[in-house]
Amino acid sequence: MAPEILSRTWTFLTAMTSKTIFMEGQAGDGREKQLLKSVVEDAERNPESVMKTIDKFANRSWLMNIGDDKGQLLDKAIADRKPKIILELGAYVGYSAVRISSQLDEGSKLISLEMCPENASITRQVVDHAGLSDKVTVVEGILTDKVEEIKRMLQELNAETFDFVFIDHDKRYYLSDYLLLKENGLVGKGTVLFADNMKIPGSPPYREYVLNSNKDEFDTVEHNTRFEYLSWLPDSVIISTLK
Ligand SMILES: C[S@@+](CC[C@H](N)C(=O)[O-])C[C@H]1O[C@@H](n2cnc3c(N)ncnc32)[C@H](O)[C@@H]1O
Repeated sequence: MAPEILSRTWTFLTAMTSKTIFMEGQAGDGREKQLLKSVVEDAERNPESVMKTIDKFANRSWLMNIGDDKGQLLDKAIADRKPKIILELGAYVGYSAVRISSQLDEGSKLISLEMCPENASITRQVVDHAGLSDKVTVVEGILTDKVEEIKRMLQELNAETFDFVFIDHDKRYYLSDYLLLKENGLVGKGTVLFADNMKIPGSPPYREYVLNSNKDEFDTVEHNTRFEYLSWLPDSVIISTLK
């Protein structure tokens, strides 16, 4: 096995078996901090260079970004919907925040919610390095605590609902956080929900809701794809548009 494949497989396994990844949002060995250093030192101050630097880093030291393969599905969903106001649940080190916001027109906004303060700080710095700070606001916390703040932000942007929601945080909260957004009137007709990691680790309640029990609420498509940075692992994304 080539050293790079070995290294990213090993760092994937160490992240997945760490005590911190699911509870605290970091792999526990400082790789997220190292990633920031790598971006600041090696990347030019533009989105393409920042994303390339993060992908290169993650090919050696695995990171739970959407990655370049699934990222292309995300790009297409953004290009199809042309959203003005977007919510991201789970920022990690800011890869998808850069990817999404680099496609947005002037005046559009991505609100990125991240529970881990260190990740929120890394995301702000990575986004700044990519020159996209005016398009991204990182909110630190979880949706149950931040829903009122996010509602106010939406009002200040003169928007009623999000056009696009990228769901990529703790899989146990995919459905409950969607229901919280719905209950608060933050999603509506035409909102696109893009849910990552629907095979690994998957979110059975969310899958059941959008594909079976409440399927009349949405037009839904599942795309079979590959897990981030590990092409031997299958994954999928589920894209649902509210009717
Ligand atoms: C898979 S990573 C996000 C990857 C990022 N969207 C990307 O593609 O570049 C998941 C992130 O969600 C955060 N997270 C986990 N549970 C959360 C919650 N309930 N609310 C907000 N963020 C959460 C973790 O700290 C972690 O940074």
